[in-house]
Amino acid sequence: MKKKKKQKGLINSAAMRTWTSPLLLLFCAILCFNSAVLGDTDPNDMAILDEFRKGLDNPELLKWPANSTDPCGEKWEHVFCDGSRVSQIQVANLGLSGSLPQDLNKLEMLSNVGFQRNNFVGKLPSFSGLSNLQYAYFSGNQFDTIPSDFFVGLTNLQVMSLDENPLNQSTGWRVPQELANSVQLMNLTLMNCSLVGRLPDFLGTLSNLKVLELSYNSLSGEIPANFAGSNLQILWLNNQNGPGFSGSINVIASMTMLTDVWLHGNGFTGPIPTEIGACTSLQQLSLNGNQLVGLIPANLTSLPELGSLKLDNNFFMGPIPNVKFNFSYSQNLFCQSTPGLPCSPEVTALLEFLEGVNYPLNLAKSWSGNDPCSGWLGISCSANKVSDIHLANFQLDGTISPSLGELDSLTNIRLNGNNLTGTIPQNLTSLKSLQMLNLSSNNLSPPVPKFGNGVTVLVDGNPLFKSSNSSGSPSGNGSPPAPGGSSSSPSGGGSGSTTGSKNSKKVNVLIIAVPIGVGVSVVGLVSLLLFCRRKRKKSAFTVPNSIVIHPRDPSDVDNMVKIVVANNASNSIAGSDLQSGEDGGVSKLNVFEGGNFVISVQVLRNATRNFAPENVVGKGGFGVVYKGELHDGTMIAVKRMEAAVLSNKALDEFQAEIAVLTKVRHRNLVSILGYCVEGNERLLVYEYMPQGALSQHLFQWKQHNLEPLSWKKRLNIALDVARGMEYLHSLAHQCFIHRDLKSSNILLSDDYRAKVADFGLVKLAPDGKNSVATRLAGTFGYLAPEYAVTGKITTKADVFSFGVVLMELVTGLAALDEGRPEESRYLASWFCYMKTTKEKLKDAVDPSLDVTDEAFESISIIAELAGHCVAREPHQRPDMGYAVNVLAPLVDKWRPMKDDQEECLGIDLRQPLLQMVKGWQAADGTTDASSVSLDDSKGSIPARPAGFAESFTSADGR
Ligand SMILES: *[C@@H]1O[C@H](CO)[C@@H](O)[C@H](O)[C@H]1NC(C)=O
Ligand SMILES: *[C@@H]1O[C@H](CO)[C@@H](O)[C@H](O)[C@H]1NC(C)=O
Ligand SMILES: *[C@@H]1O[C@H](CO)[C@@H](O)[C@H](O)[C@H]1NC(C)=O
Ligand SMILES: *[C@@H]1O[C@H](CO)[C@@H](O)[C@H](O)[C@H]1NC(C)=O
Repeated sequence: MKKKKKQKGLINSAAMRTWTSPLLLLFCAILCFNSAVLGDTDPNDMAILDEFRKGLDNPELLKWPANSTDPCGEKWEHVFCDGSRVSQIQVANLGLSGSLPQDLNKLEMLSNVGFQRNNFVGKLPSFSGLSNLQYAYFSGNQFDTIPSDFFVGLTNLQVMSLDENPLNQSTGWRVPQELANSVQLMNLTLMNCSLVGRLPDFLGTLSNLKVLELSYNSLSGEIPANFAGSNLQILWLNNQNGPGFSGSINVIASMTMLTDVWLHGNGFTGPIPTEIGACTSLQQLSLNGNQLVGLIPANLTSLPELGSLKLDNNFFMGPIPNVKFNFSYSQNLFCQSTPGLPCSPEVTALLEFLEGVNYPLNLAKSWSGNDPCSGWLGISCSANKVSDIHLANFQLDGTISPSLGELDSLTNIRLNGNNLTGTIPQNLTSLKSLQMLNLSSNNLSPPVPKFGNGVTVLVDGNPLFKSSNSSGSPSGNGSPPAPGGSSSSPSGGGSGSTTGSKNSKKVNVLIIAVPIGVGVSVVGLVSLLLFCRRKRKKSAFTVPNSIVIHPRDPSDVDNMVKIVVANNASNSIAGSDLQSGEDGGVSKLNVFEGGNFVISVQVLRNATRNFAPENVVGKGGFGVVYKGELHDGTMIAVKRMEAAVLSNKALDEFQAEIAVLTKVRHRNLVSILGYCVEGNERLLVYEYMPQGALSQHLFQWKQHNLEPLSWKKRLNIALDVARGMEYLHSLAHQCFIHRDLKSSNILLSDDYRAKVADFGLVKLAPDGKNSVATRLAGTFGYLAPEYAVTGKITTKADVFSFGVVLMELVTGLAALDEGRPEESRYLASWFCYMKTTKEKLKDAVDPSLDVTDEAFESISIIAELAGHCVAREPHQRPDMGYAVNVLAPLVDKWRPMKDDQEECLGIDLRQPLLQMVKGWQAADGTTDASSVSLDDSKGSIPARPAGFAESFTSADGR
């Protein structure tokens, strides 16, 4: 931290020197020429702009003329005026670093500021009193402090965006009450900026608020009830750190303007309200990763606009709806595994009963599948029909569902010692085999329906039954009534003696347990334990309680490889006549983490031995990729644009790549470690991926003396890629489209985990839109048809490419190979034909794979998934989240296979000894073993050990 500050200071003082002379000029201008020469700009506004410029480390990026003081008159770039007053500053995406002047609010006429996606640091200026301010964008910076009066007096504010800033990170911060006065507010986006506390009530009453995006904070508590009246269209509360939001989601049903609702990754409980049918504009609903329960209401799935519904990782029950739209539902408690199939009548009746008592989680978790006799908690069977419901002292809250009347094999119902209310359903009297109905010690209301002879009905201990004599069991008191008083309720369970000898063991335990004296709860526990033990004997059911969360992997940032950087702050574009000679020599070295990733070209020259030809690991459309080694031994890959191809296009790509890569971090995406813009040099520094590109391991393993990848490794790689792409598409807060996903863009680490690389072609999709007509990019063979034909790109084009990669993993064949016979030239179309039968699919599988029955089972699933991914119509393709959900269980299931054992010592016997020793030394020392690579200059390993996409494009028929 300290070092970072010091560095900053140096940069600032350098900047000061740089700007001294123009400042003098400025004063001179004011003194000597007066306003006639000064032109149109208000001098006070000019002073603030100048302060802004001076606070920057790289003011030259603004391209503001140094000898002028009239931004309004001369129409400086990025500044807009209203008469002589500055009304807008628009510097989004310029790569600016530095801090903002604290008195920016002296630009009183500001109406629109765009500071988003730069590297601004430090404290946000106060915006207090800027009553003209309508739009304010600060997202994607490194602001670390928000002043307490930031939101005061912003009476005309319409849009405020502070996403992706580490604001008050150590303490967190709360949305202040003053924002309630910004009654015009339409968009409030505060994702991933360290918010804590509850959702403020007033947000529900801002009637203009349409977009509220608060994902990735540490918010908790319930959605306030007054959100019911709001006009919100987009509500994103997903992925809160800590416990997250809790309580029911009922209020959503009253927010009828909603189109997009993301509540995933929280702790919401309870069922989906059926009233959600009123949200007729709803297009996207993500509820995955909560603790929601119950059936999926038909008036949710029949909503006319619904295009995406994610329910994974909850406790949803009943049938899986059969729907046309994008739907994911893994890791729930559905009764069937196929959409559209109904539950058995017994299960349906029991689930209705469960609904009546509000789906207690301990029961819901146990009551999954379509067979209540498979060991459901509290359910006993005889002749494979439900005979007993034994839920005494279960803290059930709610009513008794009449659906129990449909379980005609029931002989015993014990619901004593709960908190049941309402009346006893009349139709229970039609249960022909019923012998015992124990409802004592609840809160039920009279009357008791007329049961037949031979049925024992116990209702003592229900306060609303005035006296247990007059209203109690009107008929057939076949067995002695339980003694009065609420303390009798535990032994009400004990009256299970009427069920016969079968349960005698249990009775013993209960009798022993009661004297221990803790009473109801102990007995409840003991009986619970008993049921659990019985159940385990019958079937080893599993409770799907693992919630898949896709972390943004903060460890990646924390463990960011330290970069050695020259402190000469010479990241300015050469040619500026203001540069002093001091920049020449690389002086002492500073190390810093995170923050600004500018690296001097000298450091990169040293690392790559002056871009030595033997360090080239790849070549591509925009430049050459070199392997390099930093001072501290960290291996890096450096992508260098050639001067000749520094067209505007290449430069645009370069800027785009920086903007995207410095913001997007995920363990399955290749990280950018830094970059360099110096003179004509444009360099990007990436983490080094020792095993190179997937394509090499799939198609060229023989040439490179590699082992073919095992099926387990391929599955892992598929899941890694799916996760990386899922993050790009939806979890990175903005939607990024890769546009050129292919196996040569998938790089492997030493342990064969995959990362997606080469974002040079990524276009930042405009916020809120995921389709953008754009110039065609991509690689033939992987291109989605609609993209190839119309140039219109959506995330579904990436899904198509992903499908082709899956096919490559299965077949070991490249996406396109002109050398193959006509019918198999395009892998995608050939594969879709080959996967139609089991035999043909077997023929299509990569001959280098050892295909066991179990492997073939998962190969078939992957083949199926690949087929969906390359569906002709984009809307028929799943999203990447679906692919993750299909792949994750396959990988988990596969884990204990023997394939792992080859590698159990971590020794690769194919490596020459010298390299093995090097690896061990590195692992022992300070260097991260994963960053150590083989030195291929000796030629001992023919494979190119690192890779960049472009190195293998020829194999992909580009
Ligand atoms: C400022 O300097 C540029 C060249 O550096 C020159 O073209 C321009 O005329 C100057 N403007 C004024 C107002 O002196
Ligand atoms: C949803 O379905 C239920 C029946 O399950 C019905 O009573 C209710 O009116 C429906 N609500 C809406 C808003 O359509
Ligand atoms: C029973 O319900 C009442 C109100 O419905 C509630 O106050 C009480 O806490 C509940 N008791 C238990 C043990 O759940
Ligand atoms: C408000 O948010 C929506 C949805 O993200 C977006 O489409 C729109 O452009 C935003 N409006 C402004 C003015 O930023």
